[in-house]
Amino acid sequence: MNKLVKKIKELEKISGKLEPSESKRNKYFQQIQDYANGFINNIETLKAYSDKKVKRDLLSINGNKKPIKEIIKLYGKEIVDKGINAASGFHIGYIPGGGIYTSAIADFLAAVTNEYAGLYFASPGSVIIENEILNWLKSIFGFPKDSAGSLTSGGSIANLIALTAARDHHKIKSGKITESVIYLSPQTHHCIHKALKIIGLGDVIIRYILIDQYSRMDVSDLNSQIKKDKDDGLHPFLVIATAGTTDTGAVDPLMEIGNIAHKNKLWYHVDAAYGGFFILTRQKKASFRGIEMADSLVIDPHKGLFIPYGTGAVLVKNKEAVFQSHQYTANYMQDSTRNNTDIYNPADVSPELTRHFRALRIWLPLQIHGIEPFVACLEEKLLLTLYFRNRLLEIGFETGPEPDLSVSYFWYPFKNGDQNELNRKLLELVYKDGNVFFSSTIIDKKFVIRMAILSFRTKLKTIDQAVRILNNARLKVEKSGA
Ligand SMILES: Cc1ncc(COP(=O)(O)O)c(C=O)c1O
Repeated sequence: MNKLVKKIKELEKISGKLEPSESKRNKYFQQIQDYANGFINNIETLKAYSDKKVKRDLLSINGNKKPIKEIIKLYGKEIVDKGINAASGFHIGYIPGGGIYTSAIADFLAAVTNEYAGLYFASPGSVIIENEILNWLKSIFGFPKDSAGSLTSGGSIANLIALTAARDHHKIKSGKITESVIYLSPQTHHCIHKALKIIGLGDVIIRYILIDQYSRMDVSDLNSQIKKDKDDGLHPFLVIATAGTTDTGAVDPLMEIGNIAHKNKLWYHVDAAYGGFFILTRQKKASFRGIEMADSLVIDPHKGLFIPYGTGAVLVKNKEAVFQSHQYTANYMQDSTRNNTDIYNPADVSPELTRHFRALRIWLPLQIHGIEPFVACLEEKLLLTLYFRNRLLEIGFETGPEPDLSVSYFWYPFKNGDQNELNRKLLELVYKDGNVFFSSTIIDKKFVIRMAILSFRTKLKTIDQAVRILNNARLKVEKSGA
């Protein structure tokens, strides 16, 4: 016994290092804070993109310890300074990230107290806060109070949960799969296709609905494709609209699609991962009319609410449909039913059991700032999009049609040579410069540069600087003979 106690005490000395003293905690925190402050204070001068290679050997784990100073230096050099600087306002490609500071401090708190946000029994307060966020979302999007919902790691998992509910509600299994039909637009985000495969619906029939010049779904084509499938004895069960497509920011005609879905008794899913929060703006509120008709809805706070990566949300009106695949119990879980409550567990609407307290990273900023600066930021992004497009037209670029939200595209009409190749070259020069980041896409077989204005740090002067960089790049391409 003495030997055993002696060994435990020896180990305690070593394992105790995982609980640093207050002075060490302060030292760590001070250095992290200094780094964070330097990063934020200098963010406008940092590159938005760098294709420099990460030195992998410097990041390998060899079991040895390093001083925090060295680790932070490594973090800055090998992680932050390479690839896309997603916290930068000059990130105007893909769907830009957020990363508001008040979310970061919420994450710190949540990690220190390590709330177990999967079960009400384990952390009733964190579940109530998650439900407050979900109730707030329900009120914004006109969903009934008794809808189910979940905060997820992002839009992909949120879509997966919604599609699982649609599948279970319509009992799409075994022999029925190959006769069941889903209607969506060619602009639907690829995570929907991924989710369908994951949930065993890889063999359903997918009908792509025609889109108009603004990339919005053509409802008359939707109507006629559903009718034909019904006449042919197939089983239409799901229609997916997008409120803010990834390529062009298009908002499908939500009300008309909703009416068609309801008339034909189809599950109506709306992917508003990117565009959803623009419903809060005066300019765009009307574009979202009909979103309340959806059976399920996805919105990403890590996009339109400027929260750091790792926060999506799904709402589903039919609670039972979500519970079918997600609600489980087990002998080792029996204590979790001790609370006499009608509040369901977050784990009942999610593939996750143990969950990060991600609600705090939304709740805390909303408590500290109120909603006003978030709405102002979204309205600012819409105006910056118009401003950017106008500035581009002034210097001879051409732009795609007026966008529904804050994603648009453009290209330069070079006089000589292959337009696609030359615009690719132009973007390559922008990448080399690294002070601003755009992505590209293909629209109607044409290579175009995509602009997505959603970072809370993108300001008027960011756009002016981006225009200068684009103009310099196009002059260089022209000089090289275009
Ligand atoms: C419309 C849309 N849906 C879904 C997703 C996937 O979301 P996430 O990357 O958060 O998984 C995206 C991502 O850009 C998107 O734009």
